[in-house]
Amino acid sequence: MARSRLGIGIIGTGWVAGAHAANFLQIDGCRIVAVCSRRRSRAAQFLAGHSIEDAGAYDDLDAFLAHDGLDVVVICTPHPNHPAETIASARAGKHIVIEKPVALNRTDLNSMVRAVRKAKVLTSVCFELRWIGLFRNIKAMMAQKLIGNVYYGECSYYHGVGPWYGQYGWNIKKDMAGDALLTAGCHALDGLIWLMGSRVTEVAAFSNTSPKNPLKYEYDPNSVAILKFDNGSIGKVSTSIECRQPYLFPVLLQGDKGTIWNDQISTISWPGLRKESWASVPTDLPDSGDVADHPYLGQLQYFVDCIRTGKRPHNDLEDAAHTHEVIFAINEAIKTRKNVRVRK
Ligand SMILES: NC(=O)c1ccc[n+]([C@@H]2O[C@H](COP(=O)([O-])OP(=O)(O)OC[C@H]3O[C@@H](n4cnc5c(N)ncnc54)[C@H](OP(=O)(O)O)[C@@H]3O)[C@@H](O)[C@H]2O)c1
Repeated sequence: MARSRLGIGIIGTGWVAGAHAANFLQIDGCRIVAVCSRRRSRAAQFLAGHSIEDAGAYDDLDAFLAHDGLDVVVICTPHPNHPAETIASARAGKHIVIEKPVALNRTDLNSMVRAVRKAKVLTSVCFELRWIGLFRNIKAMMAQKLIGNVYYGECSYYHGVGPWYGQYGWNIKKDMAGDALLTAGCHALDGLIWLMGSRVTEVAAFSNTSPKNPLKYEYDPNSVAILKFDNGSIGKVSTSIECRQPYLFPVLLQGDKGTIWNDQISTISWPGLRKESWASVPTDLPDSGDVADHPYLGQLQYFVDCIRTGKRPHNDLEDAAHTHEVIFAINEAIKTRKNVRVRK
């Protein structure tokens, strides 16, 4: 059982690291005790920028992990760094928050899962939309069977990631980002799997790049996949990170008693609802790509509670491994132009 006060350490000093620091500073009993950067001066600057005193600034991962009082490591670096940083943190006995995607290939993913299992540490993967008001409402409405038995679901991620974002320089590179789903669309895929409450068994998919590739992506920035779920439902997930439009994250779920369309519901479970009309349920929507607007606070507070009570988080690495396996299957389907079964 961890101490009631938790020491938090962050790896990386970029955009998302700032959001994690700002959120952990709001959680009772948490203290940021160390930051690790490729440059020690940048770690020190990051700490000063967040008015954090008495914390260690490091440019060496082993020295950072040995910091006295460090309990939780938060990995905020580009994707290829996540496996080695996760494995080292697990071996050092730290609980770990891992930014998505956790890995770019199955070999790394499996090594991470093995290391975390062996170390018996807890993990929290940043699929933070599970804590946004819209998702929490939909989960509750589905538990109340307001739309009956669900047979179809779709969720999409449409958000242009261009030079106006700090990560753009490395995110357009195939070996750094992976693909459109791994780097961004994974939020829509994980959200759909979470809301449907069933695992994906089989996929078919296509991807493309617009004819002139204006954002110079080294991989297809657009993809669409159709999914078959274990419970017999079907679904669709689309991604575009080269689109030029406001951030859009549409969610549609259809059941035999009604339909949920973002923050609206049409259901025959409510006898007084006018026939074929929508009822709106005001809530927080996934309508911003800014990390300052993301519901990290709910995710991180829940993780801290899990550490304190020893409960397994529902968004841990083993759970996220399924979302990543679905992406690997989608990539194979795009390549082979055949339906692909998802590995267990
Ligand atoms: N869950 C979400 O909604 C969400 C939103 C945005 C981003 N993310 C994820 O968060 C992670 C970081 O993204 P970000 O937008 O914060 O990126 P970023 O602003 O570029 O920050 C990444 C940080 O990682 C460190 N780093 C280590 N090796 C690096 C390398 N080879 N190239 C560039 N930076 C390197 C850098 O810190 P030092 O220079 O101090 O070493 C840098 O500041 C990614 O996994 C991304 O997908 C998640």
